[in-house]
Amino acid sequence: MLFNKKPTILVLHGPNLNLLGEREPDTYGTMTLKEIDRMIAVEAKKLNVRVKSYQSNHEGRLVDKIQNQRKHICGILINPAAYTHSSIAIRDAISATGLPAVEVHLSDITKREDFRKHSFIADVCITQISGFGAQSYIKGLHFLAKKRK
Ligand code: DQA
Repeated sequence: MLFNKKPTILVLHGPNLNLLGEREPDTYGTMTLKEIDRMIAVEAKKLNVRVKSYQSNHEGRLVDKIQNQRKHICGILINPAAYTHSSIAIRDAISATGLPAVEVHLSDITKREDFRKHSFIADVCITQISGFGAQSYIKGLHFLAKKRK
């Protein structure tokens, strides 16, 4: 029965985040994506929510995941990575769900190259959390868990 199920948050990681741990550790930290996902799952348990994590290097796959999961989730926690700065398709997919979404970044995108300062995703998210390393995901999870439908 639906009301007996824990609410589920979809955690999405965009391109190149599969290389975390070895990718520019000075900027993105030393934790691997697997370690970050594990940390998110542990925190989710404390918050009494379920998480489903997915990483893709492909814009369309991220859009497909949002569409396919939309009826089974209560919110979206997303690090769109480079698609932050280019993807209207991901923005529209999030918007189409009508679900609360939180955008997170490991690095502080406001303090980097100019092209990273603009997010196409931000206006369909309830907040953007940027610059706290892997803790950005945890802060985002807390924010979303409080807002869940
Ligand atoms: C990032 C920031 C993006 O600008 C970049 O393209 C990434 C990672 C972050 O988590 O800091 O791949 O989203």
